[in-house]
Amino acid sequence: MSQTMLDAFSKCQPRPDACYAIASGVFPYHHSISERLANSEVVIDGTAVLMAGSNDYLALSNDLRLKAAAASAIARLGTGNCGSRPVNGTLALHERLEGELATFLRQEAALVVTTGYQANLALSALFAPDDVLFTDQGVHASLLDAARLGQAELHRFRHNDAVQLESRLKATPRDRGRLILTEGMFSADGNLGDLFSLARLAGKHGARLIVDGAHDVGLLGLGGRGAAEHLGVLDAVDVQTLTFSTCFGTLGGAVAGPAAVIDHVRLNARAALFSASLPPACTAAAQAALGIIRAEPERRQRVLAAARRLRADLTGLGFDTGLGITPAVPIRVGEPLVCMRLWRELLNEGVFTGALVPPAVPDGTALIRIGVTAAHSDAQLSRIAEACEKAGRRLGLIPSRRPALTP
Ligand SMILES: Cc1ncc(COP(=O)(O)O)c(C=O)c1O
Repeated sequence: MSQTMLDAFSKCQPRPDACYAIASGVFPYHHSISERLANSEVVIDGTAVLMAGSNDYLALSNDLRLKAAAASAIARLGTGNCGSRPVNGTLALHERLEGELATFLRQEAALVVTTGYQANLALSALFAPDDVLFTDQGVHASLLDAARLGQAELHRFRHNDAVQLESRLKATPRDRGRLILTEGMFSADGNLGDLFSLARLAGKHGARLIVDGAHDVGLLGLGGRGAAEHLGVLDAVDVQTLTFSTCFGTLGGAVAGPAAVIDHVRLNARAALFSASLPPACTAAAQAALGIIRAEPERRQRVLAAARRLRADLTGLGFDTGLGITPAVPIRVGEPLVCMRLWRELLNEGVFTGALVPPAVPDGTALIRIGVTAAHSDAQLSRIAEACEKAGRRLGLIPSRRPALTP
């Protein structure tokens, strides 16, 4: 009996749920931006809308100082390095930025790479077969990919569950290296990693603590050094990774830590070795952003106050926005299709947000993610809340009248 030959591309059919979302006009991904207007407005699908779905928390991606630094770097060094760091792609600009980042984060050394994703992948060079790696279940895909690429035995503990982590640390033989991997600020719903407990456990059980500060370096802490500084445990973090695509307003990433560790990563991490290096424009923009982060704490104060206000407004309307304090403000919806409908209703109201549905978040936890920035005016924050109110009511997600205030 002849068997039909399997076509290797047969897997490439769109998923039925995505087809349905596209056909019903609620698919929230890959909408293109054609223009950036003033005051956080962008043109998406031909219509001007308020951008409330970006990670540009400090509103630096359109800052004239970053643009000037990038333009001057292009004029001097060109638009790309056309090679990897070890061969022809290391710039004096990279080395200067690495020195400044290390000093800023109170680490001995830093390595600049081309994206935050690669900074995290590069961590895999630290995960050897003799090691046991403990990661929070909620970590970003890039950290999970690093764990998969590395050779350490992997254990995932429940989100921020220090009790479960400790029981696993206790069960680990003394001749295995131990590494704990988590995020300073979890990107999906903006809540913080329990770095205080994790730092205590790392010290108690001889583990190394690695923190991805992608969303919090530049934003949190008195000096902008991230969630670890905010929680008073900066000195207990052994290695910190970060991205330049959030608070730094450009593209790129870095790993910071002890000099021997950074040298090891520089010489062994495939993600740092086998990819073209960060272009001059992004490197210069990141350096300018670091100067602003150090000099203008009022930017982070402004965005944190704006986020507090929006969270209070949305909670007052009856939305579940979680317990966070950061400018990644979630509206917890649960069902993916309802979440995508809410996203569409918000866009119809002129507000562009992010929709996170599985597999980006666990089943049953789909959410709208609003990214507040330091450039959002009070009037724009009101506009976002009003759009949520109208859209939420239309979908029956919040009561049809504002809950009465208790006397
Ligand atoms: C927590 C976290 N880590 C790392 C990254 C990757 O950063 P990049 O966009 O620079 O590749 C992201 C990006 O979305 C993130 O949310």
